Amino acid sequence: MSTVKPHASLSPDLLSAIVREQGTPVYVYDARILDAGVRRWIDAVGDPSRICYAVKANYNLGVLARLASHGIGFEASTTGEVARALAAGIPAARIVLGGVPKSPEAVERGIRGGLDLVVLQAEHEVEAAVRAGAGLGGQAARVGLRVRPGIRAGAHPSLETGRTDAKFGFGPTDIGAAWEALAGASGLEPTTLAFHLGSGLDSLEPYRGAIEVLLRLVSELEGTGAPVRELDLGGGLGVAYGADGADLEPADLVRIVRERVGGADLEVRYEPGRSIAARAGTLVTRVLYRRERDGHPALVCDGGFTDFGRFALYGAQHRIEPLEGSLQGPDTVEVLGPTCESGDKLGTGRPLHGVQPGDLLAVHDVGAYGFVMASNYNARPRPAEVLVDDAGWKVVRERESLEDLWRGETAG
Ligand code: LLP
Repeated sequence: MSTVKPHASLSPDLLSAIVREQGTPVYVYDARILDAGVRRWIDAVGDPSRICYAVKANYNLGVLARLASHGIGFEASTTGEVARALAAGIPAARIVLGGVPKSPEAVERGIRGGLDLVVLQAEHEVEAAVRAGAGLGGQAARVGLRVRPGIRAGAHPSLETGRTDAKFGFGPTDIGAAWEALAGASGLEPTTLAFHLGSGLDSLEPYRGAIEVLLRLVSELEGTGAPVRELDLGGGLGVAYGADGADLEPADLVRIVRERVGGADLEVRYEPGRSIAARAGTLVTRVLYRRERDGHPALVCDGGFTDFGRFALYGAQHRIEPLEGSLQGPDTVEVLGPTCESGDKLGTGRPLHGVQPGDLLAVHDVGAYGFVMASNYNARPRPAEVLVDDAGWKVVRERESLEDLWRGETAG
C-alpha cells in the first residue's frame, strides 16, 4: 500500500470544496504551477519574448491571461486560437501564427493581422502570403517556413510531426524555392526557419539532428539576399505522466541549442505547450459504481473520454488517485467513463481497490490537451474550468448547460 501523493498545491479539501459548488467532472488549474512552468522556461532561455506558449495546449482565457502576465509570446495554430489569444488581452504583436495546415483565408488574415510572425508550411500558404503581402501598406509582415527535417520523435506515432512522411512543412529540398518566393515578395520579410518535431518527447536527442538540418539550410539560403535570422524549434518536451520518470527540462534543451547555434547570428524561438500547462491541471470525477469487467474490478465514473481523451487516443496513463484515502491493492482496477462505448476509459491497471461509489478521483497532470480536446459526444455538456491562485479560486469557464448543446441548431 502506498500513500496518496498530495498534489503540490491543490489539497483534497480545496478540491472537495470546489466540487461541492461546481459538481463533477471539473477541471481545476493551479495558477502557481502555471507560473512555475513559465519561470522554468524564462530561467533557461532568458528573454521571455523568445518563448511562445502553444495556445492549443490549454486556451482558457483565464489561463492565457495568467501566462501573458509573464511577458511571454504565444503560438496559435488557427484563426480561432489567434482570436482566443486576442480575447485574453494579448496584443497581436506577441502572437505567432504557427506552422500548422492553414486555409488561404487564414494565412491572409494572419498576414494582415499585425502578428509577430506567420509560419507557412505548404506552397498554397506561400502563395496566399505573397498575395496578402502585396496589399499591405506600411510595415512588412514577418514570415517563416516550416521544415520537415525527416526526424523521428514523439512518445506516440500520432504525435510525431517531423518525419519524412509527415503532412507538415516543406522537405529540405523544397525550402529554397519557397524562401525565394517570400524574399521577392513585397510586404513580406522572411526571417525564420521552423520545425516542430512532435509532442511528448522523452529524449532531447532528436533536436540535435533537426537543428543540423536547419543550420545546413541557413547556409544554403545565405546567398538569397534574405538571410535567415531566426530558428523556431517548436514544442515537444514531454511530461512523465506516470508515477516514475522525470520531465524533460528546458535548460537541457537550451544547452543543446547554445552548443550548436551559439556561434551563429541567429535568434531562437521556443513554442512549449505541454511542459508549461500539463502539471497545472487536475480533473476531478466522481465514482458512480463498481463492477467486475473481464475479470477485473472497474470503477465507472461520471467523467470519461469525452472530458479527457488522452488515454483513449494515445494510451496515456495519467496518475489517478482517490481524493481521500490511499492507493490499495494490485494494479488491476480499470477507470471507466459513463458513455456508451467500452473504449471510454480514463486509465487501466490501477491500485484503486479501496475506492467506493460516491468517492472522488483526481486525474493528474491534465492541464495540457485536456479540456481543449473534450467533446459533446452523447450530448454531454463539457465540464467547468476553475483557476486557483493565492487569493482563492474562481470559475474561468462555466459548465455547459443543456441549452448550450443545441445553440445554433434549428428543429424546423
Ligand atoms: N508548436 C507547434 C507547431 C505544434 O504543433 C505544437 C503541438 C506545439 C508547438 C506544442 O507542443 P508541446 O510542447 O505541447 O508538445 N493532443 C496531443 C498533443 C498534440 C500537439 C500538437 N502540436 C496530446 O494530447 O498529447
